[in-house]
Amino acid sequence: MKFISISEAIKRGKEKVAVRGWVYRERGSNEFKFIVLRDSTDIIQCVLKKDKFKKQWKDIGALQIEASLEIEGIIKRDKRALTGHEITVDKIDIIGTSKEFPIQKDLNEELLGDRRHLWLRSRKMNAVLKIRSTVVGALHEYFRGKGFYEFQSPIIIPGGAEEGSTMFEVDYFSKKMYLAQTWQLYAESAMYSLEKIYCVAPSFRAEKSRTSRHLTEFWHTEMEVAWADLDELMDYAEGMIKHVLKRVLEKNKKELEILGRDVKKLQPGLKKKFPRITYDEALKILKEKKKMRVLWGKDLRTIEEERLMELYDTPVLVHHYPKEVMAFYKPRDSKNPKTARCFDMLAPEGNGELVGGSERDTNIEELKKSLKAKGEKLEDYSYYFDIHSYGPIPHGGYGLGTERLVKWICGLDTIKDAIAFPRTMTRFKP
Ligand code: 4AD
Ligand code: MG
Repeated sequence: MKFISISEAIKRGKEKVAVRGWVYRERGSNEFKFIVLRDSTDIIQCVLKKDKFKKQWKDIGALQIEASLEIEGIIKRDKRALTGHEITVDKIDIIGTSKEFPIQKDLNEELLGDRRHLWLRSRKMNAVLKIRSTVVGALHEYFRGKGFYEFQSPIIIPGGAEEGSTMFEVDYFSKKMYLAQTWQLYAESAMYSLEKIYCVAPSFRAEKSRTSRHLTEFWHTEMEVAWADLDELMDYAEGMIKHVLKRVLEKNKKELEILGRDVKKLQPGLKKKFPRITYDEALKILKEKKKMRVLWGKDLRTIEEERLMELYDTPVLVHHYPKEVMAFYKPRDSKNPKTARCFDMLAPEGNGELVGGSERDTNIEELKKSLKAKGEKLEDYSYYFDIHSYGPIPHGGYGLGTERLVKWICGLDTIKDAIAFPRTMTRFKP
């Protein structure tokens, strides 16, 4: 018989099916063995009657969680069964036995982290990884649909990027090199050739912060566009998030349900326009509605972002942050010179900054001044000055923390569960 997936089998009426997978749960009595079988698509209860399996009964009795099986039998509806269906088995082949599975209920986060290579088989991780796949697919689809080219940049770089203190060093044939924190500076070179580009690739930050939203290795979705101004960049960022939400709500209803995610929390993001407020307005709102005072000129801290976002049910775009505390490439706004033409997109439900972006400064003297103020070595950036020396144009781009988006969509407590094998300061194995 041809094997079909469990979810396919569940769609069939009362008929004979062949399925294969792993033991998800098992219990037995003298007369019966009940096995809940899982494959990548779903789980199904299977019942084996002793009479039918006289020769195999001992092996069947010894089956442990995660043993792999091939099964044939009649599927029918059964309200009492876990997935509303049950297979009455007439043939079973044990493909691979299993040792006692080291994950039982109520393991703490640390032990689940140590057993991550096995924990990926859980319904939770299965659901998250499916949603993550939809998210990444939708990101590619969004940019390609808007005429962007996918562009790749090096991961090992000679230096220079966001913030020196979070750069990982690499011993590169006895020379000091670094892991990229962003694709941006190379992307700006390529923008002069391709105009509209994007990527979904790993970025690295030696983050010492132990928060629920920082990884040291994360998948960075970045874009760079020729001729774009701040409003256009925010339009792209909003359009991108809406497109991802739309795809996830279309494709992953079941997975969201398995995760216990209240989809009502995601729907406003799909339907409503994301509010756009200035940094100044954000401070005013924090003062009036949350009784929090932020000194003008300081970046918003996590706690302030969280309090602000308690007031919204969609992501919010905060723009025009103080120039002095922003990365060197974010240009001063000539109409409001204390601020930069940049934005952050903040997520609801305590998920913090999802996206950071800006127009790019092409004034080489300004760039040098900002870099010097940040104590950077100008030699590291000579190629960056060079690319803006041949027909500079207004342009800009942004970066999305892909795991932060997955965390928000799935309603996860920690960003570590938004990626298969997380890397943080304290978690780097397996
Ligand atoms: O705000 P960031 O640092 O901006 C940049 O790197 C720009 N060069 C992007 C660009 O304009 N092309 O990072 C962008 C986003 C943040 O908003 C956040 O969502 C995510 O990347 N991010 C992290 N995600 C997980 N763990 C970390 N340690 C992260 N650091 C940044
Ligand atoms: Mg940022």
